[in-house]
Amino acid sequence: MATFFIPLVPVLFLSLLSTAISCSDSDRTALLDFKAGLSEPYLGIFSSWTGTNCCSNWYGVNCDPTNGRVADITLRGESEDPIFVRSGRNSGLMSGKLSSSICKLDRLTNLVVADWKQITGPIPECITTSLPALRIVDLPGNRLTGPIPSSIGKLSHLTVLNLADNQLTGKIPASLTSMSDLKHLDLTNNQISGLIPSDFGNLKMLSRALMARNQISGSIPSSIGNMNRLADLDLAGNQLCGSIPSNLGSVPVLSSLYLDDNKLTGNIPPKLLQSKGLGMLNLSKNALEGEIPDVFDSKSYFMILDLSYNKLSGKVPHSLSSAAYVGHLDLSHNHLCGTIPTGPPYDQFEATSFVSNACLCGFPLSKCE
Ligand SMILES: *[C@@H]1O[C@H](CO)[C@@H](O)[C@H](O)[C@H]1NC(C)=O
Repeated sequence: MATFFIPLVPVLFLSLLSTAISCSDSDRTALLDFKAGLSEPYLGIFSSWTGTNCCSNWYGVNCDPTNGRVADITLRGESEDPIFVRSGRNSGLMSGKLSSSICKLDRLTNLVVADWKQITGPIPECITTSLPALRIVDLPGNRLTGPIPSSIGKLSHLTVLNLADNQLTGKIPASLTSMSDLKHLDLTNNQISGLIPSDFGNLKMLSRALMARNQISGSIPSSIGNMNRLADLDLAGNQLCGSIPSNLGSVPVLSSLYLDDNKLTGNIPPKLLQSKGLGMLNLSKNALEGEIPDVFDSKSYFMILDLSYNKLSGKVPHSLSSAAYVGHLDLSHNHLCGTIPTGPPYDQFEATSFVSNACLCGFPLSKCE
């Protein structure tokens, strides 16, 4: 008899759940207004947004089972979801705008509307005041325009802000640095300009700060040196000037640093090259000068060490010979001179790693005279 009852338990549980959770009228109305602002012609995901219970079988909508309020909207345009497989497409398309009616979903914690390519218009400013429970705002890969809402810092529980690959303009809002729970910030590939706020280092929980390919100017704030959890910093492809703050080398868990394709000047801080755990460093295409600090040791472990296209002078650093590993080295297009050291890791690299310098010689370039 016991074995007969076991399969019934989940069935009973599910039916209890589906009667217990039924969505509030105001949430349903807000979702239908949100749907009305968008058009998704290929997959038909919004055709599931019918009937009274938005907590049950509305594609991408999930409710908090304790109160039947909408907690989660997750609409991804690139997904392994069966709805994509059935339609024979691996990527979706959606146009229209993000209606400010979502601001009526005042228990929303996750807002994910990602990779639909043609959603235009602004990020509704009201999310910052009306949706205080938001933890994840994930809106990459659309065509959103206008600024990041200036009051974004009011979202004090936000852990993820991903707005990459849109057409956002304006500055990084000053209020952003008050988001004390923020772990992941991705503004990559927009048209954001202005400065990085000088108190950026206040983002104590931040582990990934990705802001490549914008028009950010000014210098890299030295407060970033105080970020104890920062693992990945990508500021490549901006207009940053001034020197690299030496205390970036004190960020304890920094593992990747991309500052390539900016207008940085001054010397490479020795502390940065000595930073343990820094495995990917790209400083290519700046105006860095002086010698390459000869400070590598047996704990140096670089998957990427790209210092190409700068104004570095002096010798190739001998100490790199003691590095545990160097996977990719590029010192080309600088003003270096002298003999390329022999032995590992130098003997693994091709001439392209060293070409276009002042007077480098020895393998893999031509023999020294
Ligand atoms: C380093 O950055 C430059 C300039 O943005 C880029 O062309 C190059 O491919 C990068 N190097 C590596 C190894 O990724």
